[in-house]
Parts: sequence; structure tokens; C-alpha cells
Amino acid sequence: MRTISVETGATDALTISELCLGCMRINRLPPASMDALLKASLDVGINFFDHADIYGNGRSEEVFAASVARVGVARDSILLQSKCGIRPAEGMFDFSKEHILASVDGILARLQTDYLDVLLLHRPDALVEPDEVAEAFARLKDAGKVRHFGVSNQNPTQIELLQRAVPQRLVFNQLQLSVAFTPMIDAGIHVNNKDDFAVVRDGGVLDYCRLKNITVQAWSPFQYGLFEGVFLDNPKFPEMNAVIDRIAKERDSTNTAVAVAWISRHPARMQTILGTTTPQRIRDAAKSQTFVLTEWYEIYRSAGNVLP
Ligand SMILES: NC(=O)c1ccc[n+]([C@@H]2O[C@H](COP(=O)([O-])OP(=O)(O)OC[C@H]3O[C@@H](n4cnc5c(N)ncnc54)[C@H](OP(=O)(O)O)[C@@H]3O)[C@@H](O)[C@H]2O)c1
Repeated sequence: MRTISVETGATDALTISELCLGCMRINRLPPASMDALLKASLDVGINFFDHADIYGNGRSEEVFAASVARVGVARDSILLQSKCGIRPAEGMFDFSKEHILASVDGILARLQTDYLDVLLLHRPDALVEPDEVAEAFARLKDAGKVRHFGVSNQNPTQIELLQRAVPQRLVFNQLQLSVAFTPMIDAGIHVNNKDDFAVVRDGGVLDYCRLKNITVQAWSPFQYGLFEGVFLDNPKFPEMNAVIDRIAKERDSTNTAVAVAWISRHPARMQTILGTTTPQRIRDAAKSQTFVLTEWYEIYRSAGNVLP
């Protein structure tokens, strides 16, 4: 599998597989199914696993750790990322020092590990105090509990605000992107037009991340809307599926692979976070690495997007 060298600004290198297993939906998997999913991921060359303290209310991290132990995966052969900062029970976001520190201790206990390779702040907290975040990150780094830090769902100004206080490079920004969910691409194509595509809702985050060498992690690569459903094989998207299926056939591949290849083809060199719990879909997604996608714009247009 192709890898991405993440710019860490430190001697501590971070080389990640282009595909990542997202663990949001694994909380109810029985042990045998979880082991099969983990093995399939490792077999295709995935070395990076995305968690969050809220996935399955913490259960996803436990299910994953138990599988790592059963399968006998060496800790230093994989990279573990988790996120904190959402408090669903209280209906709030929380980037306070106390909350970040307590969250990481919980994450480490559930993942049965001494350290996280990456910690992300999950969703922007309107009440963020960047100096407090910096203190929390310093404590975590000094204690050897977290190697690298990043954010999720943040715009350029929010990242700048944090980065002014935080000495460690923010290495990732995790953002939603799929063939059927492209606001961060649309605005750049429609600059200075009067149509809705031109509305910049994210402060130009994709170009900003490229400028700053922040690696984008694309979440929900097969979903449209905010978890409204999967667009592949969905009769709501006849034109898009016709194009994707044709290209898959021409490449002797699968529609899953084409949907992933569309993200990988973007020169931002994004990592795709797969949320499937099906081993065969992991193998299908990995087939995206076997061909070069030349129909990027055709697929984009097939999703109902127009060019100016
Ligand atoms: N930072 C954030 O705010 C944020 C938000 C959401 C998610 N994430 C991360 O992103 C990861 C992926 O999110 P996601 O699970 O919504 O993404 P996804 O990969 O787009 O969706 C996976 C879901 O689609 C289903 N599916 C049905 N047909 C499929 C097909 N042909 N190919 C692939 N999947 C198909 C899967 O079912 P099966 O399991 O039955 O295959 C699974 O339920 C999460 O695990 C999490 O790590 C981050």
C-alpha cells in the first residue's frame, strides 16, 4: 500500500498508510468479526487506525484493543489515533485542559496502550482557550502519552488560533469528503461566482492544509449528507453510480475502489478513513491502489456538480 509521509516538524517521523481503518462502527462486532476486520486491514497494508473516545461510548476502543491482543499485533507495528473534546451526555464540546487530560487517560486505558501516536481535537469548541490546550498537549507530550497532535473539522482560522499557542505542529485535519460530499472542493472551483457552489463555508480549508503541509484525513468516504446513507448502489444517484460502475468495470475493479481512488487522486495526498466493518470491502477499497484514475472530473460532475 502507498504511504504518506506526514510533516511532523520533529525528528519523530510519521509514515502512514494511505488507507486507514476508522473504528466508529466496530463497537458491536463479535470477536471473530473484529479479528477478521483487523486481519484484513493489516493484510492490505493498513497501519493506521482511527478512534474517538465517544465511538460506541468508549466500547469501540475496547473492542479494538481486545482484538489486537488476540491477533497478536505488536504495538509498534501499528499507529493509533484517537480524538477527544466532545461530551455527548452534556451536549457540549470541551477543550479544557482537565477534560483533554482525563480523556486521554481513558483512551489509553481502553486501548490498553501507554501512548497514542496521534491525538485529535474532535470538533471545534466555541469556548476554546488555546493556552489551555497548549498546556494539556505539553503535559501529554512530556509524559510520553501522545506523540503527535492534530484537529478535526476545523477551519484555517481556528487552526491558526490554536497553532499560535501550541508549539507542536498540528499534523492532521480530519474533514468529511466523498464523491457525494464535496463542499470544500466546490467553492474553489466556483470562485467569484454568484451560485451556491461559490459559498466558502470552511475558509478555504483544503488549500490552507496544502499550504501548511497539514495532512487531510477524509472521513465518511462512502456517505452522502451527514450519515444519510451510502451513495454506492443507491438508486438516488443513478448517474453517479453509472459512471462509477463503468469505470470500475473498465479497471476490472469495484465501485468501492473507484470511490476511494477519487479521494486519493486529489493532489492534497489525503488519507481515506474507511468506516466499513466488512473485510471484503477493505480488500475492495485497497484495489484503489492498483490503477490511476483519469476520470476525476467526470466522477465529480456525475455527482450533480457543475463546472462554471
Ligand atoms: N472526525 C469526525 O468528525 C468523524 C465523523 C465521522 C466519522 N469519522 C471517522 O471516519 C470513519 C469512517 O466514517 P463512516 O463509517 O461514516 O464512513 P463510510 O466508510 O463512508 O461508511 C461506512 C458504512 O457504510 C456501509 N457501506 C454500505 N455499503 C458500502 C460500500 N459499498 N462500501 C463501503 N461501505 C459501505 C458500511 O457497512 P458495513 O460495515 O456493513 O460494510 C458502514 O456502515 C469512522 O469510522 C471514523 O473513524 C470521523
